[in-house]
Amino acid sequence: MRAAIVGCGSIAHVHAESISRLSDITLTAFADIIGERAQDFRNRYGGNGYSSLEEMLAKEKPDVLHICTPHYLHVPMMLYALKHGIHVFSEKPPVISKDQLNELLSLHTEKYMGFCFQNRYNPSIRLVKKLLESKAAGNVIGARGIVTWERDASYYNESGWRGKQDTEGGGALINQAIHTMDLLVYLLGTPLSVDAGMHNHHLKGVIEVEDTLEAYIRFPDASAVFYATTAYCENVPPLIELSCEDRTIRIEDHAVTYYYRDGHIETPKLSSAEALGKSYWGSGHVSCIADFYKSLCENSRFSLDLPGTLDTIRLMLASYESARTQKEIFLLDN
Ligand SMILES: NC(=O)c1ccc[n+]([C@@H]2O[C@H](COP(=O)([O-])OP(=O)(O)OC[C@H]3O[C@@H](n4cnc5c(N)ncnc54)[C@H](O)[C@@H]3O)[C@@H](O)[C@H]2O)c1
Repeated sequence: MRAAIVGCGSIAHVHAESISRLSDITLTAFADIIGERAQDFRNRYGGNGYSSLEEMLAKEKPDVLHICTPHYLHVPMMLYALKHGIHVFSEKPPVISKDQLNELLSLHTEKYMGFCFQNRYNPSIRLVKKLLESKAAGNVIGARGIVTWERDASYYNESGWRGKQDTEGGGALINQAIHTMDLLVYLLGTPLSVDAGMHNHHLKGVIEVEDTLEAYIRFPDASAVFYATTAYCENVPPLIELSCEDRTIRIEDHAVTYYYRDGHIETPKLSSAEALGKSYWGSGHVSCIADFYKSLCENSRFSLDLPGTLDTIRLMLASYESARTQKEIFLLDN
């Protein structure tokens, strides 16, 4: 099977490294509007470099396109590739607006569409997911998700697309904390409503989007409090905590801790996972990309397809709508 990548910036290296580890997949081409970036990738990983997606797809006819471009381009590039009979694996976020979501939902295609919510593959998340399914910790009573990271003015100034509503689609939530929101959905189920607020505390005049978003999210059996900011002084591991009947479960990066009601504390042993790229991105890209190709080769469903990520997409869009309108948004009506 032949793979190609569009968008040869930071995250594309993680995709290229992950694909290179798969024995039956050949990385054949790279495209970036900054042609030298595609050439650098070609020199490093082999294959051919292009300065246009359209030219690359016409000449290379890959089986799979990895989309690693700015947010606003994900949906148009997905639609273009799918129309040309090519499977797509896109970086997050899947969409930046309701209109883009509707475009994806109205699409009829046999081709695979996968989205990179790689943190679902973290050993810590897998362990807790299994524990919740087994009911050994009892019901979840409440949850919290907290992301406190640092993004300063230079991060935005050196990028042509970050910090702008039209191209990034939002700030701390859509770009950085979407993974933590996705994990809350993965662990707690389909969200019912969200009541959110957002601010730009520390980069007024530099970015048009939020540096902080907080939300109260109702799930069928529990509610979650969620806080995400990029105004902190460093990047620390996101925290997810689930208060259950039998214990409180705390997940920080690759560490899981159980705080039992009788006061004892346990730290279950987890397999160590190697992180490609920055450790706070999580280490799941290799597993997530391998699973996408496994599903493709076996003609089985890939769990991070559009239906599998729809709850997260809808919660993200509703959080922004709630923060903009200052109203609680009920997802079933929306
Ligand atoms: N899953 C994760 O944990 C994770 C981590 C980092 C980034 N990301 C996502 O990856 C995507 C890219 O982020 P990045 O940090 O690599 O950005 P980046 O700015 O470093 O790279 C984007 C690249 O796309 C290229 N590009 C822009 N317009 C193009 C076009 N029309 N055709 C071809 N190439 C074009 C740019 O020249 C640039 O090289 C974003 O969606 C981001 O949210 C995901």
